[in-house]
Amino acid sequence: MKYSAIKMVLTASLLETFPKVEEEEIEAMVSHWLQTQNENVPLLTRSMKEHSLALFESSGRRDVSSRLVKETEPPYQTQLPIIWDDIPFRPVSQPQFTFIDLFAGIGGFRMSMQEQGGKCVFSSEWDSDAKKTYEANFGEVPYGDIRNISERSIPDHDVLCAGFPCQPFSLAGVSARNSLNTSHGFACETQGTLFFDIVRIMKKKKPRVAFLENVKNLVGHDGGKTFSIIRQTIESLGYRFSYKLISASPLVPQRRIRCYMVCVRGGINDFIFPDFEGEPLALRTILEHNVDSSFTISNRLWEGHQRRTKRNLARGTGFTAFCADLDKPSNTIVARYGKDGKECLVPQGKKNPRMLTPRECARLQGFPDHFIIPTAKTSAYRLFGNSVAIPVITKIARNIVGSLKNH
Ligand SMILES: C[S@@+](CC[C@H](N)C(=O)[O-])C[C@H]1O[C@@H](n2cnc3c(N)ncnc32)[C@H](O)[C@@H]1O
Repeated sequence: MKYSAIKMVLTASLLETFPKVEEEEIEAMVSHWLQTQNENVPLLTRSMKEHSLALFESSGRRDVSSRLVKETEPPYQTQLPIIWDDIPFRPVSQPQFTFIDLFAGIGGFRMSMQEQGGKCVFSSEWDSDAKKTYEANFGEVPYGDIRNISERSIPDHDVLCAGFPCQPFSLAGVSARNSLNTSHGFACETQGTLFFDIVRIMKKKKPRVAFLENVKNLVGHDGGKTFSIIRQTIESLGYRFSYKLISASPLVPQRRIRCYMVCVRGGINDFIFPDFEGEPLALRTILEHNVDSSFTISNRLWEGHQRRTKRNLARGTGFTAFCADLDKPSNTIVARYGKDGKECLVPQGKKNPRMLTPRECARLQGFPDHFIIPTAKTSAYRLFGNSVAIPVITKIARNIVGSLKNH
């Protein structure tokens, strides 16, 4: 049976038998179980497992289910009656290490870590369109709000990956919050504190490495206080903390400078960041041909952009909206790009410029073309804007995995 069919059957049956459990939670349990087949699937109770195994039995898969009962840890996905051919980025069959994917978004970290031979044993993400995209590509529904998930229920892992929410630290986020007179950074209770969810998981699970990503402004936020709290907190858990501000433009044609943090436990002492020197790539290398006219912006929008640009230039503030230079990288693609496209408008001769397509945004972040985009375009823009530049993550991940193998 294909992944989507087997997941649907198990989910429907568990929902019927355990009606008090939320559907999203059941989907997360079932898909994590199908991916990992180990004892430690968060929230999946013994009776739920028994029920699922009975279902396997009744569909004539006695040998598989009895193996599942007897053995627990080894990776089973290659022996399960699941055909993963509806899933483009399948679980690896001979994992070299394990990792978890927190604030998983659409799985930018997972793409790289799986490619390096890693097996994902837990993911968490609360946005429903992100979950939908994640499942379509990886065959796993992430668990929801990380604040409600006990660190004890998370499986052991070698690497903790987290591109934690950056709005409280980004320049745009801070100025919006300042003007609204609300708190930001750690003082912003809803989002800034999510770093401490990473900390409580690290404290309990002691991964060998934590690989974190955030906006570059994290380093200077609140006169450097926020970053030094992050650093000290991680060091107090027994990790060596290193970070680097890296521009993605030699690897993808996008100006995107982010702060990457790699925290290694005592014993691993040879991790160094790779080199990211190189000429910036040209936007034209990722453009699609014959783009639908619905991506061309309206006269009203284009005139509005030009008016605001002139005003901002005179004041020396704010974003400006110009047509992109196709021989240079695009500006940073952010979550709001889909609203009006001002970060990157593609010139079209005499016609009004056009927006990038979601596929072009995916390419700007290094997602391969067989990455499935199952959502409407407004969501897709937001999800790609929030994601990571995959080739940057991959290059750092190679050094992390190299260090893990040496120790
Ligand atoms: C900066 S994005 C990370 C994107 C991800 N690295 C990727 O490659 O797509 C942060 C993500 O955290 C998610 N998030 C925010 N608060 C959360 C929470 N309490 N529990 C789970 N996910 C959360 C957001 O929905 C968002 O997708």
